[in-house]
Amino acid sequence: MILVVGGAGYIGSHMVKLLLAQGREVCTLDNLSTGFRDAVLGGEFHQIDLADAPAVDALMASRRFDAVMHFASSIVVGESVKDPAKYYRNNVANTLNLLEAMVRHKVGRFIFSSTAAIFGEPQRVPIDEDHPKQPVNPYGASKWMIERVLADFGHAYGLKSVCLRYFNACGADPEGRIGERHDPETHLIPLLLQVASGRRPNISVFGRDYPTPDGTCIRDYIHIEDLCTAHLLAVDHLVAGGDSRAFNLGNGTGFSVQEVLETVRRVTGHPIPVVDSPRREGDPARLVADSTRVRQQFGWTPRYADLDLIVRHAWAWEQKCAGMPAHR
Ligand code: UFG
Repeated sequence: MILVVGGAGYIGSHMVKLLLAQGREVCTLDNLSTGFRDAVLGGEFHQIDLADAPAVDALMASRRFDAVMHFASSIVVGESVKDPAKYYRNNVANTLNLLEAMVRHKVGRFIFSSTAAIFGEPQRVPIDEDHPKQPVNPYGASKWMIERVLADFGHAYGLKSVCLRYFNACGADPEGRIGERHDPETHLIPLLLQVASGRRPNISVFGRDYPTPDGTCIRDYIHIEDLCTAHLLAVDHLVAGGDSRAFNLGNGTGFSVQEVLETVRRVTGHPIPVVDSPRREGDPARLVADSTRVRQQFGWTPRYADLDLIVRHAWAWEQKCAGMPAHR
């Protein structure tokens, strides 16, 4: 049985879906602070907060988990600068509760949702795994701390882990059952689609004076399904007795904000009014992954690397959920 922590959130719920499709036994733990109960398409569900160490311990004692996948964290970079305590509490202290319970109950395999934000301002692009880690905000710092904790837990307690450093996760279930549902939404593609569906009047483009061909920031957009497939490969690697590893996860292709905007206009047929705005603090000009290592070592190949397809899946979801109640 696999424990999916944060399985009611955007990425976690797609992971639960994929594990169930593979016929695996799944147990979701989520406090529903940002996730949605109805996004968990099957398996067991436990509403538990990672801050509640005794409850986490009791769950760990009650089942035989083959591995734990950890998606539960706070993810908004700007908020992390304003309220670092929340990020070190949720992303570091609460993750320690989980890891210590795993060690106590001899659950020895862990897949960790890390981020490109651990690298800080890129010194070279594309970014490979060995790029220096100099996070420039508490969100990135909190994720890098856990990567360090995992290295030490591996050494001291034999805990095996795979850290997957996501670039820009996006898209939705190709069959349209689940998708991105952040509230408030801060990510580019869902915001553009909310304009297309009439939920927002326009999109702010944060800066047109970056040193890129069209002046807008370049990012590496990776389909949620491809991202989850890498987790399956990671768990199989650890179950087969593999050692701890860390991988950068992106398509290796960068698209500018302007290119994404034009793709959304093309796919939705909506004009998408734009408000040119100042740069958003802390946005590097270009973030693109070098994912050679995960391709070579795990045989990972993205299936949905085409940006049009990513936007089509996200658009189908936006049209479905635009009128959904915001209940959890
Ligand atoms: N952008 C806009 N207007 C918006 C929203 C975003 O122009 O309304 C721009 C941003 O400035 C950025 C690009 O669109 O250049 C993508 O922004 P997102 O907020 O969608 O994604 P980020 O690249 O900022 O963030 C992602 C993850 C974070 C992670 C970060 C660095 O969502 O969790 O990459 O790895 F920290």
